[in-house]
Amino acid sequence: MNPRTIELKEQLTHLFEKTFSAKPEFFFQAPGRVNLIGEHTDYNDGFVMPCAIDYQAMIAATPRDDNKIVVTAASFDGQVSEFELTQPVAHSEDAFWSNYVRGVADVLLKKGYELKGANLAVTGNVPQGAGLSSSACLEVVTGLTLSRLAGHDISLKELALIGQQAENEFVGCNCGIMDQMVSACGEDGHAMLLDCRSLETTSVSIPEGLAVVIINSNIKRGLVDSEYNTRRQQCETAAAHYGVKALRDINVEQLESGRGDLDEMTYRRAKHVVTENQRTVEAAEAMKTSDVLTLGRLMAESHVSMRDDFEVTVPGIDAIVEIVKDVIGDEGGVRMTGGGFGGCIVALTPEAKVDAVKEAVAAKYPAVSNGLVADIYVCTPSQGASTL
Ligand code: GLA
Repeated sequence: MNPRTIELKEQLTHLFEKTFSAKPEFFFQAPGRVNLIGEHTDYNDGFVMPCAIDYQAMIAATPRDDNKIVVTAASFDGQVSEFELTQPVAHSEDAFWSNYVRGVADVLLKKGYELKGANLAVTGNVPQGAGLSSSACLEVVTGLTLSRLAGHDISLKELALIGQQAENEFVGCNCGIMDQMVSACGEDGHAMLLDCRSLETTSVSIPEGLAVVIINSNIKRGLVDSEYNTRRQQCETAAAHYGVKALRDINVEQLESGRGDLDEMTYRRAKHVVTENQRTVEAAEAMKTSDVLTLGRLMAESHVSMRDDFEVTVPGIDAIVEIVKDVIGDEGGVRMTGGGFGGCIVALTPEAKVDAVKEAVAAKYPAVSNGLVADIYVCTPSQGASTL
């Protein structure tokens, strides 16, 4: 267990004991994620290549004798929220964070799984609202906790789908399957090439000597949900224009030959998705053969495509990408990661240049971002959800 996980477990034990006056019996965890390439492709039935990171959500749990779920959250000053499993699960207005727990319970119950009452304490060290999937990992760890306490051996893949359903139907965010899948099924030391249509996964090693560096711009992500949903609709409009189920079903040639009277903006949205799918599959090949030059080029093209065609980057994010590119040159790759409009960039950085990247970002980023300071995390690709 890494020192951060040990620390998290200790904090959680403390919160649990303070709230419930007893030691917790079980611990479960699910990691956050960073996406290396394949952005806004998951809800187009396409390809993504994220890895789970060594930052996570964790739950301490003890079954109760009744049908109540009582849950407290470390990140929200130990606020306590509770609900009954024998009644329709209601949304909470004052403890918004608990809706992720409630949503997962709701989906499990609706799928016919009987659940047991429990005392739960939740914590995590995935930065919230940074685009590193702090919500998805909370959903996945909740699914694991509630199912295991009730004796259901639901597969991790199924738990990922349950988490996504909770987010789509209970929380109301229309996300794809990438975040929950990699949080549930990530593999130590590897990225995951995921086919979001078949849910087939292939694990891909990160080329030797490259560190996974995440730089959080700390730019507040405004309008994320509305812009995200608009992008989804534009992709659906484009798929309908081409007469296919999803943009996954056309290649670059078909994109051009079938363009017809498709308006300029919708065309550019489609172009991003179609080319990004191709880049993602090529990037997995480049990783397998340790072709860092190609990998770096594909990540750079991915960023430009998100900036110019899909239009989900912001100037501060573009600036960090340039700052990092100047340091790593063609010895690695850098791009925005996640849904966009702020959040993080990911850089596959030669280990010898990690310090230089940190220094360059610290020296140059505040000047182009009205004084914002970025947080930098050097991550290890990690195992998905597990019992601790
Ligand atoms: C968010 C969503 C994912 C995915 C990314 C963009 O993280 O939750 O499903 O669509 O944005 O790639």
